[in-house]
Amino acid sequence: MSKIPVMGDDLPATMLAMLGHDFELHPWNVSPENPVLQVVQGLITYGHPHVDGPLLDRCPNVKVVSNHGVGVDHIDVAACTARGVLVGNTPGVLDASTADMTIALLLALARNVVTGDAFAHGPHFRHYDPSNMIGTEVTGATLGIIGLGRIGRQVARRAHGFDMRVLYHGRTRQYAAEQTLNVDYVSLDDLLSQSDFVALNCPLTPETKHLINSQTLAKMKRSAMLINMARGGVIDQDALYTALTTGVIAGAALDVTDPEPLPRDHRLLKLSNLIITPHLGSASDRTRRRMQEMTVENLRAGLRHEPLPYGVQAP
Ligand code: DGY
Repeated sequence: MSKIPVMGDDLPATMLAMLGHDFELHPWNVSPENPVLQVVQGLITYGHPHVDGPLLDRCPNVKVVSNHGVGVDHIDVAACTARGVLVGNTPGVLDASTADMTIALLLALARNVVTGDAFAHGPHFRHYDPSNMIGTEVTGATLGIIGLGRIGRQVARRAHGFDMRVLYHGRTRQYAAEQTLNVDYVSLDDLLSQSDFVALNCPLTPETKHLINSQTLAKMKRSAMLINMARGGVIDQDALYTALTTGVIAGAALDVTDPEPLPRDHRLLKLSNLIITPHLGSASDRTRRRMQEMTVENLRAGLRHEPLPYGVQAP
């Protein structure tokens, strides 16, 4: 039986094993000169390569775009739908691990884990100094979650383990979750002005693009810390730089940036009150394995012209 041509880059060995021998895998090369684009039937977006209308027009035989991950802001879903191309993603399975990482970054920021690690490795740590690196108490603090979706709800559950007061703001008010999760809906301004920690767990949409900017940063407490587990584009990074260097807020942790990665000489990378991790939200062994399985399940279904088990609808 002839193999089905698909395009996707940097796939891990576990995923290659799941794909088996049914596919002819081509590296991601969107150059109009690439003859593979004419024959390829499926696109695997592993690591967020962009898919838009012009690319799809160069790939007349593509039936399915299978995304490894839940966020599809790098895929023009409307353009896919208009061309009859199905889009799949991996919802649900990464909520816990992304929430774990949100809390990991919150704790790391609050308690100087990264700067403390560097100090303890370096030559200046000569004796225990009780005055050194006093952090912010997490227990009992107020956490504001922007985006109480599946991931945000898991963050709320974890925050209650630290006796935190949990506020949220989002497009939709969630009355049921307010009862079950003991979270309070507030306006964006109230969330920003009352929270000790602000966690971004929302998708990147036209409404959330640069939601965190110089005006919204100015509404936060000077002692507050910001954690971005969403997408880099939710924050105006120039405004964040100014806020972190002029004391408008105390610290930030970014698991995502815009662009990603930042240029190696970017000024944000020089700040000691900023933690950056390389998009590790869902990077735990069990979660990533399940994401790979779902990506392959969606690909196979799409190539068979079947409804995708985890399909994305055009907005
Ligand atoms: C997601 O699921 O959207 C994560 O960012 C990984 O792609």
